[in-house]
Amino acid sequence: MTSQQQRFEASIARECAIEPQDWMPDDYRKTLVRQIGQHAHSEVVGMLPEGNWLTRAPTLNRKAILLAKVQDEAGHGLYLYSAAETLGCAREDLYQKMLEGRMKYSSIFNYPTLSWADIPVIGWLVDGAAIVNQVALCRTSYGPYARAMVKICKEESFHQRQGYEACMALAQGSEEQRQMLQDAINRFWWPSLMMFGPNDDNSPNSAKSLAWKIKRHTNDELRQRFVDNTIPQVEMLGMTVPDPALAWDEASGHYRFGEIDWSELNEVIHGRGQCNHERIDAKQKAWERGAWVREAALAYAEKQQRQREHAA
Ligand SMILES: [Fe+2]
Ligand SMILES: [Fe+2]
Repeated sequence: MTSQQQRFEASIARECAIEPQDWMPDDYRKTLVRQIGQHAHSEVVGMLPEGNWLTRAPTLNRKAILLAKVQDEAGHGLYLYSAAETLGCAREDLYQKMLEGRMKYSSIFNYPTLSWADIPVIGWLVDGAAIVNQVALCRTSYGPYARAMVKICKEESFHQRQGYEACMALAQGSEEQRQMLQDAINRFWWPSLMMFGPNDDNSPNSAKSLAWKIKRHTNDELRQRFVDNTIPQVEMLGMTVPDPALAWDEASGHYRFGEIDWSELNEVIHGRGQCNHERIDAKQKAWERGAWVREAALAYAEKQQRQREHAA
């Protein structure tokens, strides 16, 4: 082991954050670029299913909340692209890879939002699952990623609460509203559990990420934490989850739940989800239509630079 490697391993062992100027193994850098890049893409693609309901929110209040949430997600994307750039890759390059299907984003966003109830349920379950993942990432070993997560987690917690509060309003509403809520839970429950990734015995990259303290908990540990947090909330709403195997296990102090149908997730990951094409198509169009904004911003920055040089 070289002295650089030894220093790196010692920093990881002592829980000292790795910073952009520090030496790091190539694989560590690559793993982070992939993970932070995918995370950034998920934030910005995740704006689409909810953005779809901005013009149809049932009240002005709900619309204002949803607008704020969707804007937050754009901000999360920006923090994360910036964190990825500290690893020496260009934001535009990462973004192009996503547009060309060479980098992934979370498959949860390839499901359609069919009714208004999907919006509260996404806030509650999808952002709720994201928080469980992201709270753990506040202690990830790469400094810029960990610091981005601290701010993101505060906003995610608002997202989760606004979702649950809106679910509560539906749960206390008419029979039709209650059915709409139950239907949304039925559709989003399993995809939310899949957000934590494959089971531990089928997750080849996990061991390395755990050793480097990029990941602090395994996929199955985080999934269990999410189920344990969420089931009492489901009960409070007077709703159910579509899992006949769900049961409280007194001995372990955890909920037991049924087997996940990974074949469904694989279909979505391989581009055969209901909205894969629609999402990429929307992002490509936005990229093309936004060209003039990028050009104008660059021209303005250059003009400012020239003026500063002139004044100096
Ligand atoms: Fe987010
Ligand atoms: Fe969020």
